[in-house]
Amino acid sequence: MADIVMKTDFSDVKLLRRGKVRDVYEIEQFLLIVATDRVSAFDVVLPNGIAEKGKLLTAISLFWFRQMADVMENHIVATEVMDYPPVLHKYVDMLEGRSMLVKKARPLPVECIVRGYLSGSGWAEYKEKGMVCGIGLPAGLVESSRLDSPIFTPSTKEAEGHDINISFDKTRRIVGDDIARQLRDASLTIYGRARELAEKKGIIIADTKMEFGVYAGNLMIIDELLTPDSSRFWSAKDYRPGRGQDSFDKQIVRDYLLTLDWDKTYPGPVLPDEIVRKTAVRYREITEILTK
Ligand SMILES: Nc1ncnc2c1ncn2[C@@H]1O[C@H](COP(=O)(O)OP(=O)(O)O)[C@@H](O)[C@H]1O
Ligand SMILES: [Mg+2]
Repeated sequence: MADIVMKTDFSDVKLLRRGKVRDVYEIEQFLLIVATDRVSAFDVVLPNGIAEKGKLLTAISLFWFRQMADVMENHIVATEVMDYPPVLHKYVDMLEGRSMLVKKARPLPVECIVRGYLSGSGWAEYKEKGMVCGIGLPAGLVESSRLDSPIFTPSTKEAEGHDINISFDKTRRIVGDDIARQLRDASLTIYGRARELAEKKGIIIADTKMEFGVYAGNLMIIDELLTPDSSRFWSAKDYRPGRGQDSFDKQIVRDYLLTLDWDKTYPGPVLPDEIVRKTAVRYREITEILTK
């Protein structure tokens, strides 16, 4: 079986942060982003890894970065370890396929979310107010309804706790008029294109979160793009509006966890082999469907 990478540790490279899934290092003027096989559910990183998940998510991001190259520049500098700074070459076994060397940008303090279906906090807000992030939507929509025109629903990036949905006006006040417009337009174009491409392959991308940054005066897409960790993926054949939908990638894990008496706080329960194996298959499937 393939090795599972739960955590990386390169003693001679400066670790900037460990996210739930990715370890980020600073090297020369670049960042090195390493996607591990960690998986989270209900906001808790679980003790098990999912074999190859980091490689599959990296492949998905790179696929989308290429697809969207004409919409906006992205942060990728190199993806082949031999093209990285020499100090990293000895870690090739750990890094190959699951890492990217990127431009170290100044991340803009808004999460650029686009919703093409009503779910999660979007659905909650619509139910209460009939709008999402200040955008009025038609009456009579139900949970998981498809929005013919996807909406840009940014949120703040909170260091702690949940991000807060904000209006476009608020976004303009935070990043300025011009950048706010560019973020919205690029986000909607990227999501619209991705939704169409994925739907032809039987996958619904219900919504997604993108991040943008400024580097050498240029706006660029940073972080990850249209992965199952940054987006809601549903199976088109099982889609039924009027209820929540199963997550294409994580449902097996969530369903299992819901059979336990677990309060969704750390530490998370160990997953049985069967659940881990089935979930690994899901990540492989989604990668093959999307990128082939
Ligand atoms: N090119 C970049 N320049 C600067 N920061 C970046 C860049 N790409 C990604 N980041 C930042 O790296 C961090 C990744 O960490 P995080 O999102 O917590 O990881 P994960 O999603 O794997 O849990 C985010 O804060 C993101 O803004
Ligand atoms: Mg993240």
